[in-house]
Amino acid sequence: MPDTGMLSQPGPGLPARVKLVEVGPRDGLQNEAAFVPTAIKVELIRRLMDAGITWIEAASFVSPKWVPQMADGAQVLAGIERRDGVVFSALVPNLKGLDAALAARCDEVAVFAAASESFSQKNINCSIAESIERFVPVVEKALAAGVRVRGYVSCVLGCPFEGEIDPAQVAAVTARLHQLGCYEISLGDTIGTGTPLKTRRMIEACANEVPLTALAGHFHDTWGMAAANVYAALQSGMAIFDSSVSGIGGCPYSPGATGNVATEDIVYLCDELGIETGIDLPALAEAGSFISAALQRDTSSRVARALQARIARAARLAAA
Ligand code: HMG
Ligand code: MG
Repeated sequence: MPDTGMLSQPGPGLPARVKLVEVGPRDGLQNEAAFVPTAIKVELIRRLMDAGITWIEAASFVSPKWVPQMADGAQVLAGIERRDGVVFSALVPNLKGLDAALAARCDEVAVFAAASESFSQKNINCSIAESIERFVPVVEKALAAGVRVRGYVSCVLGCPFEGEIDPAQVAAVTARLHQLGCYEISLGDTIGTGTPLKTRRMIEACANEVPLTALAGHFHDTWGMAAANVYAALQSGMAIFDSSVSGIGGCPYSPGATGNVATEDIVYLCDELGIETGIDLPALAEAGSFISAALQRDTSSRVARALQARIARAARLAAA
């Protein structure tokens, strides 16, 4: 770490601890052109757990015609080692998906709506209102089975088809999902066009409808603002964030969007702010190196790159 001195207490107004939901195995891999073998997904999840990650979105139970990359969700859930304290979740768009997720012994499921009508149509082939109606029996059945439900709202800071999205519309969909019984609502900047001020305004609108403790930030990093948006959200009092190791990912129905904010970058930010994550950064960076090598590309995490450069420098010095 740089010797700027980590804070032992978080700065004023910042949470003492954050919950990080690792979405790399799902959001990170759903958009890959070539199918990522099940064994690689299972090994990635094992390495993430070794790094201390305890919330993992492992799969999607969606139509394999729509998202072929996630067709092996049942095999991934069957292949992973279950550890005490680690929660595995999966996306479910309808009852068929929920039944598959329950059969696969998911600890949690997530339904996904949007704040943009056009995105809703492109992503799940129905209007926002129809999606909410579709989720009613999904949430009821999941809760009856003792499985908690998370809700997603996409396009909270912009839509690839409609442009600007009114924070009031985001807040309305957020409130609806919360009323349905979703215990946590993840606010997705699907196309990564958000900026800190817009982020704070959007969170404020949602927090007028739903307790702030039930809101999570899900920032894609297309325009390089994701870490800045996380910091703005922390200052707003938000303490739950989604991220993907190595910054992998994107949404198949969001043209041009890149991966989520890299988990390594958020962990470093939180470490430096004195905010506890429970995650070991070097071990996490190794999990990132593993998936980057498997995908045959460099990591998108600036922090992981800096760590790699530091290790290489130290090795050169030791050899000299
Ligand atoms: P549809 O075509 O309207 O559905 O798609 P349908 O009910 O007419 O069914 C069509 C076919 O799909 C049928 O098969 C169904 O059995 C099958 P056929 O009879 O033709 O052989 N099917 C399923 N198969 C497996 N599992 C299921 C399932 N449901 C139907 N659950 C549907 C509607 C919602 C199914 C489709 O649009 C879909 O699967 N969409 C998923 C899109 C997706 O996964 N997008 C990426 C995730 S969202 C995201 O990344 C954003 C997020 O990260 C937050 C952010 O960044 O903003 C969460
Ligand atoms: Mg996403």
